[in-house]
Amino acid sequence: MYEEHWGLSEKPFENTPDPRFFYLSPQHEEGLSRLFYAVTEGKGAAMLTGIFGCGKTLLGRTLLKELDRDIYKIAFITNPYLTYEELLMYIVYKLGGKDLPTRKSEVLVNVILERLNEILENNMRDGKKTVVIIDESHVINDSRVWEELRLILNFQLEDRFLLTLLLLGQPELKELIDANKQFVQRIAVKCYLGSLSEKETREYISHRLAVAGRVQPIFIDETYKVIYKKSGGIPRRINHICDLALFSGFGKGVSMIDEGLIKDVASDLEG
Ligand SMILES: Nc1ncnc2c1ncn2[C@@H]1O[C@H](COP(=O)(O)OP(=O)(O)OP(=O)(O)O)[C@@H](O)[C@H]1O
Ligand SMILES: [Mg+2]
Repeated sequence: MYEEHWGLSEKPFENTPDPRFFYLSPQHEEGLSRLFYAVTEGKGAAMLTGIFGCGKTLLGRTLLKELDRDIYKIAFITNPYLTYEELLMYIVYKLGGKDLPTRKSEVLVNVILERLNEILENNMRDGKKTVVIIDESHVINDSRVWEELRLILNFQLEDRFLLTLLLLGQPELKELIDANKQFVQRIAVKCYLGSLSEKETREYISHRLAVAGRVQPIFIDETYKVIYKKSGGIPRRINHICDLALFSGFGKGVSMIDEGLIKDVASDLEG
């Protein structure tokens, strides 16, 4: 809608986890490289926690995009609001499992675990690595699910794991896992994402604008402090403020966005 006015080829601040827009702040870069390390080195499990809207899902999607599908067989679970049988079944299904038990009465955890074991062994025999990524893991509050995930991690050879489990979630995930002593010992890699600094907020905005086709600044220098303050450096909030500012600036026919306009849209968003 406002793209033409601002010389953009697409909208720069959409709240979708599109890896093309990924801005590598030092903490995002560290998180990505740690998860990459866990996967390529065949670690048992890794955990990425972080506050809401800070980029966990996008980081997971970026990792997914970077992994060579000829080598990595990946199940990316985005919505783990499932019973423990369903979650296990879904993992097996996403990894390409066929002939899964369909009737509730047949849904026996042992049958599904056996099927999973077959898949893992086949993948290993074919020189493939298996990765299971569970986004929003902090919603898993059924202790049987954690027990089951622990069982899955037991699928291992003497010298390596048959599967790498990546758990992404909000900070309470850490508490959930810490409460489960046997599980916590299996997490080989941990990382955390917090909010961006003011300098990073500025770089983040410039980066997203550049990906959307605009290299010349749109926001005047004084706006960044206000955007940072109003968003708390949280990317999802920065997106909301900047998107609305572009829309509003277009409506007013201005050629640059100043701090007054940012304050207006931010208070609209707060209200
Ligand atoms: N490093 C980044 N580079 C570019 N965009 C980002 C970055 N981090 C977050 N975003 C953007 O911010 C928005 C929120 O990110 P994302 O959905 O990944 O957050 P999240 O941590 O998974 O949040 P939640 O805890 O609510 O699931 C997305 O639109 C995403 O594109
Ligand atoms: Mg998310």
